[in-house]
Amino acid sequence: MEKSFEEVLERIYNGSKEAERIVSRYAYRTPVEYSETLSKLTGGEVYLKLENLQKTGSFKIRGALYKISKVKDEARGVVTASAGNHAQGVAFASSVFKIPCVVVMPETATITKVESAREYGAEVVLHGKIYDDAEKRAIKISEERGYMLIHPFDDPDIISGQGTIALEIAEQIKDVDAVIAPIGGGGLISGISVVMKSTNPDVEIIGIEPENAPKFAESVKAGKILSVEIKPTIADGLVTKKPGKLTFRIVSKMVDRILTVSENEIAKAIHLLLEKEKILAEGAGAVGVAALLGNKLDVSGKKIAVVVSGGNIDLTAIYRLIIRALADTGRLAVIEGYVPDSPGNLSDVTGVIAKYRGNIIDVSHHREDLKAPAWHTALKIVFEVESQEVVEKILEELRKAGYMFEKV
Ligand SMILES: Cc1ncc(COP(=O)(O)O)c(C=O)c1O
Repeated sequence: MEKSFEEVLERIYNGSKEAERIVSRYAYRTPVEYSETLSKLTGGEVYLKLENLQKTGSFKIRGALYKISKVKDEARGVVTASAGNHAQGVAFASSVFKIPCVVVMPETATITKVESAREYGAEVVLHGKIYDDAEKRAIKISEERGYMLIHPFDDPDIISGQGTIALEIAEQIKDVDAVIAPIGGGGLISGISVVMKSTNPDVEIIGIEPENAPKFAESVKAGKILSVEIKPTIADGLVTKKPGKLTFRIVSKMVDRILTVSENEIAKAIHLLLEKEKILAEGAGAVGVAALLGNKLDVSGKKIAVVVSGGNIDLTAIYRLIIRALADTGRLAVIEGYVPDSPGNLSDVTGVIAKYRGNIIDVSHHREDLKAPAWHTALKIVFEVESQEVVEKILEELRKAGYMFEKV
């Protein structure tokens, strides 16, 4: 490593220690929880660092507090572009240090994130489809108003602030072997890797990206910054087209492995966290757990810290995810068939489902179905069920009772 880069890393590490004083004053030292479910599943000792319980619902407040504490006396105001959580962090930190704040979000930002930034007193501007579009507008606003641009990840102070998570992990989990963290623009994992490796170079740092936004996985493999094609992902906080210049250098040198996870794996991780651990994570916050569930890592016998980086998820997204996860795990059934259009048939059919403890979510009738035999109506029923074997039993019993239904 050439001298100047080593100095940057040292500045980031020292910055983290300084940031800890500010962060501990205005934000939470989030808890670490041992996960019995994930430990059993992986054969490792898995701990979750719960940044979803952080003020503003994500770790982003850490970098924002440190950065704004440093620039508050020289800046007339601050402006930033963000897919959401950084915006809330900056909005919150600006309100702490009483400085005007504009946040530019892509039009795709979730309603929760837009509203909370406003609640913290920021002026919100919606622009473009993804972060990169929003960033262009933020630069323009910074030029027009003379506000300081606060980059969400490619800034040594922001990285130092995020690194405070690693200082806490080192104190909360003795002799941790590996830390797993999400990668968006790379600020979080840069901070964590610099701090962890400065105190113990043997700790393995593993970064996780969605398959649908694999900018670091591809750039690091290619040895240069690449702009990748982005597809929609539940992990909306991890969507940027390309790594930052500084974060790319840090990640290339300090992160041991980068893995990608599918949308299904992320959905299952959110579901598992909710059902087994009673933890509400957003997509970006759940990718570490998704990597463990997808069997992409051998962590048996190791002590692992997984950073659950945020919990800001829309209620509608939770509903869709639960339905999808139930379907994937065989606990959601959709059956279709025809019943005579006369009183009592619907209750006969639902009675059979109830007998097998199926919980009906939706029933729809289609009298206009032209394929239906005369005097029959088409029926579609969606229900929760213990397993797919039980669905087979229900279909069998319906057939015996003269009702022809099939699984959809
Ligand atoms: C919840 C959550 N996790 C992880 C990240 C990724 O952080 P970074 O862009 O510093 O890599 C973000 C970014 O917004 C986020 O909101």
